[in-house]
Amino acid sequence: MSVTILAIESSCDDTSAAVCKDVKILANLVAGQKVHEQWGGVVPELASRAHQLNIVPVVDQAIKQAGIAKEEINAVAFTRGPGLIGSLLVGVSFAKAFALALNVPLIEVNHMQAHVLAHFIDNNPQFPFLCLTVSGGHTQILLVKNFLEMEVIGETLDDAAGEAFDKSAKLFGLPYPGGPLIDKYAKLGNPDQFTFAEPQIAGLDFSFSGLKTSVLYFLQAQTKKNPDFISTNLNDLCASIQKTIIDILLKKVEKAAKANGIKEIALAGGVSANSELRKRFEELGIKNGWKTYIPKFEYCTDNAAMIAISAHYKYLNGDFASQSTEPLARYHI
Ligand code: KG4
Ligand code: ZN
Repeated sequence: MSVTILAIESSCDDTSAAVCKDVKILANLVAGQKVHEQWGGVVPELASRAHQLNIVPVVDQAIKQAGIAKEEINAVAFTRGPGLIGSLLVGVSFAKAFALALNVPLIEVNHMQAHVLAHFIDNNPQFPFLCLTVSGGHTQILLVKNFLEMEVIGETLDDAAGEAFDKSAKLFGLPYPGGPLIDKYAKLGNPDQFTFAEPQIAGLDFSFSGLKTSVLYFLQAQTKKNPDFISTNLNDLCASIQKTIIDILLKKVEKAAKANGIKEIALAGGVSANSELRKRFEELGIKNGWKTYIPKFEYCTDNAAMIAISAHYKYLNGDFASQSTEPLARYHI
């Protein structure tokens, strides 16, 4: 029997809908929200309103693009959390109503688990594997034992890696989200031009809030001497901060791989769209004899295809949600 799932992702500032038939993604649409750019970060209230405007056309388009009839949908999946509560509410409410109208089951998905399971869209990592999930809200190293069984073995104590990118970019005067812009300008800069102190955190945990402060103090001191310091050194600043963030991430991944004796290593989440991180992760894999996995670019940042694929495995397990399910702003794996 084949299984067709409609999935909704609305945890932050992207409204996304996807359709998968078994493990094949038939459509994956993402409507971004430009409205946040001018505010230097996601404004939760504006995000919820934009989701409400986007959700019907995005779902409609996804179903059309998938070339299916609504009646073929076997279950409706949604992101339950973690995320912004107002944004989640829009997706959860829509999914409940749609499932009720079609008289099919609902499936709730953990957004962080979905980032990991995005690997199974085009690939097949062998269990157990390690996954470094780096996004705007989270930074975790997971021991993935099975599709739905994962253990957090390291995580950030404060800011996420994506926040380190975005907050540094903001200090450089770049719009939100600054991560992709740092990636772009870093290609033209010297990563060894400036050095920022790496935090010394025990075990497999991370910390990024000190880095942001050291960038701030460094820029304050330099712009006092030269008001044009940032604009004249933008490429080198981007390359140097990017290198520091990547060094912090990869040292812990290497440590985790050695400590667990695992050589199947995956990278996931929005920051895994970073070109230098992808390159250095693969180089580190070659050095250590790992089999490395990185999702396709469109499955790194937030998307409903990863929700659909996760829901597929839950469907096979008969793991359905009730109509009284509520979204969870904090939702641990
Ligand atoms: O997974 P995601 O789309 O949303 C969350 O669940 O948070 O991750 C978004 C984060 C943002 O911080 C964004 O700046 C970062 O991923 N990001 C990047 C790149 N593309 C997205 N950071 C660095 N380089 C990139 N190319
Ligand atoms: Zn995400």
